[in-house]
Formats: sequence, structure tokens, C-alpha cells
Amino acid sequence: MCGIIGYVGYRDVVSVILSGLTNLEYRGYDSAGIAIRDDGEIKIYKTLGKLINLKNELEANRAQIHNPTSGIGHIRWATHGSPSIINAHPHTCTCGRLVVVHNGIIENYKELREKLVAKGCKFKSQTDTEVIAHLVADEFGQTKDLELAVRNSVKKLQGAYAVCVMHKDVPDLIVGARKHAPMLVGVGNGENFIASDTPALIEYTKRTIYLEDNEIAVVTKDKVKITDINGNEVAKRIEVLPWEPVALSKLGYKHFMLKEIHEQPDVIRNVLNGKLYDIEQPIILGEVKLNKEILKSLNKIQIIACGTSLHAALAGKYLIEDFSGISVEVEASSEYIYRKSTTDSSTLVIGVSQSGETADTITAIKQAKEKNAHVLIITNRPDSNMARLADSLIPLNAGIEVSVAATKSYIAQLISFYLFAIHLAEIKGSLDKGYLKNIKHELIQLPTKIEEVLSDTSVIQSCARKFSSYKNFIYIARGINLSTALEGALKLKEISYINATGYAAGELKHGPIAMLDETMPVLSILIPGGITYEKVLSNCEEAKARNAKLIALTSSTDKKLDNIFDVVIRIPQVTEILSPAITCVPLQLLAYYIAEFLGKDVDQPRNLAKSVTVE
Ligand code: G6P
Repeated sequence: MCGIIGYVGYRDVVSVILSGLTNLEYRGYDSAGIAIRDDGEIKIYKTLGKLINLKNELEANRAQIHNPTSGIGHIRWATHGSPSIINAHPHTCTCGRLVVVHNGIIENYKELREKLVAKGCKFKSQTDTEVIAHLVADEFGQTKDLELAVRNSVKKLQGAYAVCVMHKDVPDLIVGARKHAPMLVGVGNGENFIASDTPALIEYTKRTIYLEDNEIAVVTKDKVKITDINGNEVAKRIEVLPWEPVALSKLGYKHFMLKEIHEQPDVIRNVLNGKLYDIEQPIILGEVKLNKEILKSLNKIQIIACGTSLHAALAGKYLIEDFSGISVEVEASSEYIYRKSTTDSSTLVIGVSQSGETADTITAIKQAKEKNAHVLIITNRPDSNMARLADSLIPLNAGIEVSVAATKSYIAQLISFYLFAIHLAEIKGSLDKGYLKNIKHELIQLPTKIEEVLSDTSVIQSCARKFSSYKNFIYIARGINLSTALEGALKLKEISYINATGYAAGELKHGPIAMLDETMPVLSILIPGGITYEKVLSNCEEAKARNAKLIALTSSTDKKLDNIFDVVIRIPQVTEILSPAITCVPLQLLAYYIAEFLGKDVDQPRNLAKSVTVE
């Protein structure tokens, strides 16, 4: 959701900004723009739609671009004002000498806009962002100091912002500021960068400085200065990014989503690495600070998350309750923050987030901290805002996930919940040691079993082809795989735009069964040996009696299933409690192949953003 890169240095400014924006593309956007300083002028180019349009626009104007020395670029995901060239960033002040790009939402923009209009400012767009351009220009008119003008202006802003500003009269200097939206500086030699996220920088530098809320960065080619909101210089640590540029390559796969699905066995190995190395030994979660004392006073656990992470949370609830007997509530962050919560100092609050930047989850976590709850964050971004709020942390180590539809981060979240639930059981002594050893053994076997699923996807592909023309799907399961049914249906919705709904199988007859006929395929998850198999099978028979087409996802080898179901997708044998870590994979693939057959934009589905940084 929106992305920023700014650059001052000796390289081809346009190429650096375009490649930075390309590496942020996965976040989701609807328009793009760039402002460069060239021949002492500020030149702006903006286009609607994908970055290729901006590239073409710049190519078409090549004769006008000579030797730019600095610039800022932006991809926009519309919040205020429709996607259009006028609403695309960068925005300018009335005279056009000052340019601004912005991520976030300025909540008091209407009131500021009225004041600025009264002062004579001429607004061109419907965005909240444009007030920043006029506000800073107004301050600059009085102070002639861009850093001070930005500082004075941001003090008047309410809401969230990561903002970059350039001015025609202050050559090759970018001022950045942030509050409740990520921003970092990339440090180079004879060049410096500023961006909203690390992938924008990784091709050029791994040395970064993360800005905190209310900090202001002044970036020139030779210097980076960070100050607080009062203008005091802040000594910041340079951190070295752990990722290589190759993480942003498709490595021969047609889409990032397919590559990331195939990375999952190694992702599991990474998550387990150093935490579970010997089934005889307890799980090691170095950054989880829950000891026996804290656990004794623990009343309940609340897990807060959005989207795919919320489905991992639901699986986590089943696991934690099953393994430790501690009561767990799961809630969408957007719901948690607008009701009277029962969180208190004897609650453990777990925030789950791939990005660590989801605005609703951050707000929820802040609320939980205000109530003195112990906060555990499970995230793929240990450098994120959410991780910084954590009392305890489980880093996912899944590597950067580029496809908007989450896959490998989901499996890493599931595995983290297995490890955490076992960890709790080990501290509490709530499970039989032999049983725990078996679970640990099976966890270690998971990557090999998933490799088996990935080695032959022919049944899934033919199922995708057969069902790609259907407009509605129902996914059903019971027990821990309810989370898989919900997540499988979400994957299909997200990337193919087909209406798919996940239900607890037992709920089918309480309403959804009214929709069943030959146009509504029912996909069910059936894991034999567990407590739900026969029940789900009965629910499938009920659906068949209403002429619904049936797809089974099962570890059963029972040939009888081939007579009942139209398609049977088989997975290796697995204990029911561990099965979500395998059942999710064929459902990711099914969604992928259906979307691919339908010719959809798999990696960047319409209207979606990878990281939703506004509430
Ligand atoms: C967006 C993405 C989803 C993701 C959700 C939560 O809506 O499109 O794929 O599951 O945000 O993101 P998080 O980073 O908090 O896991």
C-alpha cells in the first residue's frame, strides 16, 4: 500500500527511483509518479496504472531529461480521491517549487485545507497529501529552511505519515519525516536513499537507518542527519539488512506466488532451525520471555491479526488450547480496537503479522500494551514497528514475500504456533512427553511431505482447469482445519476474484446448504485418524444429495472416496493436529492455477495491498 523512494547521488536518478518503485510494486498500487531535479528545475511525471506506464512516459520524455541529480518517486493506493493522474503523487504547492510524496492518511486535512485556501493556496487534487505540500511551502516562505519548514508543518498534522519533500531552491536535499508509517534511510558512499521499505534499497545498499515516529531525516549525497521533533540531533545506529537482492527475483517461476509456494519446505526448515533440533530437548524460543512465573498468573491469551494472519491465529488457538489448556480468544484487529476489551495485565496478547506494519494490528497492540498485557509478536519483519512494540518476539525467517497473497509467511506463522504451543506445554508440563516427542518428530518431517505435494501438482492443475469457470465455491472442514478452509477460500477470492466461502462443515446445514446445486462446488478437508473425518464425510454426502460437485483434500487412501468425489486431491499421511501445515499447500496451488487459467494478475491482485498501513 503506497511506496516511497528518494535518491540523491551519482547514479542515474530515474533508474534508481524506477527500480526502487518496482521493488515496492508488490505492495499494491493504482498510480505512480516521480519528481526529479534536472537543470535546476523540478520536473514531474505521473501516470495511472502500472509502473510500465510511468516508464513509457519517462521514455517518451527522454529528450527533456538531461542530468538529474536527485528525485523522489511514489506508488499510490488511493484512499482520498479516486485513482487518477491528478491525485497521483508527487503533489506540489501553488507555485510548483515544492514537491511532496506521502504514505498514510492526514486525518485533519479538511481543516488544514480550508485554512490554506483562505491564505490563497490553489489546490489541484482531492488528496489529503496535497495539504502537506502547501503547508510546508507556507512555512518555507517564512523560514527559508526546508528542514525547519517540514518540522513546523508535521507538528500540525494528525494521522499517519511517511513523507518526503524536495524544493527547487534547496538543491539535492530531501527531507523525510514519519509518524505511524515506516520510513528508513539507505546509507551509501557519495549517495544516500530514503524509502518506505527495505526492498526499495536493497539493490544499492544494505546499510540502513530506521526512523522512529516524529523523527526527521535530512538527506544529501554526502550526509544524513536525523533530528527529533524539537530539532535535537539523534545518534542513530546503522543496521545491516539480512536480505540479498536475489530475494526479489522470480528465479524462473512464472509468478512470485508460485516461487513462494515452492519455498515453503525450506521456510519450515528455517523456522525450525535453532528452535527444534533434537526431539529430546525442549523448544528454544530465545526472544520469548514467558517463564513459569508469568505463566502461572496468565488467565488467557488473545490473538490479534488481519487477513491470512488471522487464519494462522485461528489454527494457533486450536493448538494452544489443545497443548496447554490455556483459553485463547482470536479477534480481527479491526474489531478488537473498537470495543471494550477484557485485556489486562494477566493476559498474553499475541499479534500476528507478516509485515509487522498493518495499521489495525499496531493500534490493537498499542491498546493491549496500555493495559499492561505481555505482548508477543509473530512477524516476518523483526525490523518492523510491531516488532519494536514486542515484549516477546518470534521472527518468522520466511524471507521477503513479494506476492500480495500470503503463502510462505502463513506456513511460517503456523509453524511458529506449533513451536509456541509446544513451548507452553513444556513449561506447564501439560502434555505427555512421549506425545510431544512424536509431534516434534512429525514437525521435522513436514518439509519432506510438502516436497512430495509439490513434486506432482498434476491433479491440482487438472482440478483447477475443471473448476475455473465456476463462480462460487464453498470450502468446509472441522476442527483445526477450519482455519485451512477459511484461508483456502480467501486465497481463491484474492487472486481469482471468485466468490469462495469457508465454513465449519457442521454449519453447512444451518443455512449455506440452501445455496447448494450443481453450480456450487464444495471442497472439503478430510483427515482420517482424527476426530472429524467421519463427520465431514457425512456433510459431503449431504452436499452430494443436493447435486453439488465435490472436491476432497485428504490424506486418506480409501478408494471409496473416488466414487463419492468428483476430484480427490491426496496428500501424504499426517496427524490431524499437524495437518494444516500440509493442507494449506494444495489450496494455495489450486487458487494459483485457477487464477492463472483465468489470466488474472496473480502477484498483484486488483484492489489489494500487501501491507495495509491505514486503518
Ligand atoms: C493485507 C494483505 C493480506 C494480509 C493482511 C494482513 O490485507 O493483502 O494478504 O493477510 O494484509 O497483513 P499482515 O502483514 O498483518 O499479515
